Parts: sequence; C-alpha cells; structure tokens
Amino acid sequence: MELPTNPLFDRLGVYPLTAFADKARSLRRDGNGPVHDFSIGDPVEPTDQRIRDALKDAVTPTSQYPSATGQPALRAAIATWVMQRFGVEVNPDTQIQPTSGLKEGIFHTPLALTAPGARKHAAIWGAPGYQPYERGALFAGGTSDPVDLVPDNDWKLELDTLTPSRLDQAFIAWLNYPHNPTGAVVDLDYYRTQIATARNHGFVLGSDECYVDIYRPHDTPPVSLLQAADGDLTGLLVCFSLSKRSGMTGYRSGAMIGDERLIAKLGIMRPNIGTASPDFIQAAAITAWGDESHVAARREIFEAKRQVMRAFFDRVGLETSGSQATFYQWVKVPGGDDRAYADALLAKRIIASPGSAFGSAGSGYIRLALVPDVPGCEAACATWEAGITLGEIPS
Ligand SMILES: Cc1ncc(COP(=O)(O)O)c(C=O)c1O
Repeated sequence: MELPTNPLFDRLGVYPLTAFADKARSLRRDGNGPVHDFSIGDPVEPTDQRIRDALKDAVTPTSQYPSATGQPALRAAIATWVMQRFGVEVNPDTQIQPTSGLKEGIFHTPLALTAPGARKHAAIWGAPGYQPYERGALFAGGTSDPVDLVPDNDWKLELDTLTPSRLDQAFIAWLNYPHNPTGAVVDLDYYRTQIATARNHGFVLGSDECYVDIYRPHDTPPVSLLQAADGDLTGLLVCFSLSKRSGMTGYRSGAMIGDERLIAKLGIMRPNIGTASPDFIQAAAITAWGDESHVAARREIFEAKRQVMRAFFDRVGLETSGSQATFYQWVKVPGGDDRAYADALLAKRIIASPGSAFGSAGSGYIRLALVPDVPGCEAACATWEAGITLGEIPS
C-alpha cells in the first residue's frame, strides 16, 4: 500500500538544520580527531544548578496532566520578568500563554489565525530567517510570503515597503530581533512603524524575541516590541524563550504575550494539541525567569568566545555583518559561495551553517553559533587559519 502522505514533505524536504546535526554526528563517530561544531544554536554550558534543583524538587509521586494555559505561578513569574526587564505591565491571566519551547508556539499559532482558503492566508517573514514562521503557516493550510532582507538595510524587515495587496492578505508578520541568523538588532522607532503597518492592514504582528537577553555585556540591552506598544497590545504577539537566555533548550519552555483576544483563542486551540509543559518543567521555568545572575554569567561566556572569533576574523580579513547580539556571528564568505565555503570548512572538521540554508537571501554568508568553549573556539580558529594558509579554504 502507498502511505498517504502530506505533499508538504516533498515540497519542504527535511528541516534544514537536521542535515548539519547529522553531519556533526557522523564526524564525531569516525574518531578522526576533534569536531568543531558551530552549526546549531544549542550551546553546551550547564544549566544553572538552581534551575535543575527546582525541576528535581517538583517531581511528584503522582503524575497528572498539566494545564494548557500554564500554572498561575509561571504566568506571574513571566509577568514579573517582563516588568523588570522592559518596565511593561502585562496581565498574567489574560495576556500570557506559556509554551513548550517557543518553536512549537510559533509553529502552532497559525492554526488559530488562518485556514485553507482563508482571505487572510499569508505569513510574512524576513529571509534569511527561522524556518517555523513559514512551515507553521504551510502546515496550517496558509501560504508563506518571505521578504528578502539585505545588509544595506541592516537586515530589517520593513513592512511598509510591501504593496498594500500583499499586506492585506497576511494573517501574521513575524519580526525577529535580535535576529537569527544575522545577529542584527532594531530600535523602538522601527517597532512603532511596524505596529502601525500591521494595524492598518489587519494582521497580527509577531515578534520573536528569544535572543533579547543575549547581547554583549557592555552594550545597551536590546529593546522589545512590548516597549513600543505603549500599553496597547492590540494585534501583537511577543515571544520569549528560556532556551537561549537560561541554557534550557532541552527543557522546552517559552512564552507568548499579547492581545488578549489572541491569547484566549490560543487557550481554546492549544488543548487540542497536547503541548502543555510538564509541571516540573514549569517549576524550573519559574526559577529561571526569576533570576538574572545566571543570564549575566552566560553573556560573559559568550562574550569570551565572541572575542576569540572576532580577533581571528580581524587577523585573516573576514568581515561580519549584523552580529551585534545573539550568540551568532554572520560572516561574509570570500568568493560569495557559502555552500562551497561551508564544505571547505567541513573538510577541516569545522561545521558552520551556510547562509542559504536560511533562505536564498542568506547566500554569501555563513552562520557560526558560539557553541564550542573558548579553547574549542581557539582550536577551530587555528585549524581554519592553517586551512587558509594552505589555500584549502578560500580567502
Ligand atoms: C529565532 C528563533 N526563534 C525561536 C526559537 C525556538 O526556541 P525554543 O523552541 O528552543 O524555545 C529559536 C531556536 O533556535 C530561534 O532561533
């Protein structure tokens, strides 16, 4: 029998970054020396002990279903963090939806906003960008409307440059600053302009801010769409995650904050899916949102790695673009062929993501996630530099 299959599988292929995870795994298995893996944004620093203890202490003898809307104490902890970080008051009962990691939240949200054949069917997003903006829309029966971002405009998605007919058919536009993969940041005026455009054309403005706490220690912290909203969350959905700020990728814990009509719809839709975080994860999340010292410590760790990489780029004449925040370095590839360059690095057991894996507008760049520790970064730079000297890596 032929297996009934969603045609999207053929159209989309495998999730792009799984290919790199597979490559890294097979290199590690061959035992031919160290692997310098800068491909996936999943750093290896241990999760803070207090967070791990909170999880362990919350494992109860009896196991019961968690609630899809999250524990009141978790929503309160998120609201307190929002107030402390951005000076913005949000209502924990009506404006916050916890998620099982942010990715599922982003992927599932279109189910609440569009349907096959809907008048508002398109998800606008900036390319290069995070794939679930597109994939969530397509699996919900909507369409994807990527907009090419360019370095000359600091990788900003400017909604008001799109035609009115394009904007009118959107159900959502996703912003993502600090930006994956380029590390670009924006200011409050930028957000204000996007809010006005979204409201004029009647679509939700999603702002994925999962890297908002990953910035250089001496820089001014990146701003949030919540600050630009001036107390009015109409049509807005602002998203956060503990994965990057707290090193909790394996816990799966995020938050969506916004228009209470949309949060109510998500509260109706999400129990159908069964994605509620287990209560012991929610306990760990409450501890993580309530502490900034471990986040500051992580920023210092990433800064040390960033300095090693940037000193190396300067030495060998590699240029970065964006790269102001996040733990990514977005590096311009000599010769412009990002896939060939990533392959040349791979031959030296250095794994980087070619920019075109994030959309064709990312071609000409590679993304390096600051995952290896400082000695690991130094070792990778030495290997990379030797490859350049020998003419095995383009310069
Ligand atoms: C831009 C962006 N948004 C959202 C996520 C999802 O984070 P998580 O599902 O781990 O909370 C990621 C993870 O890499 C990301 O890069």
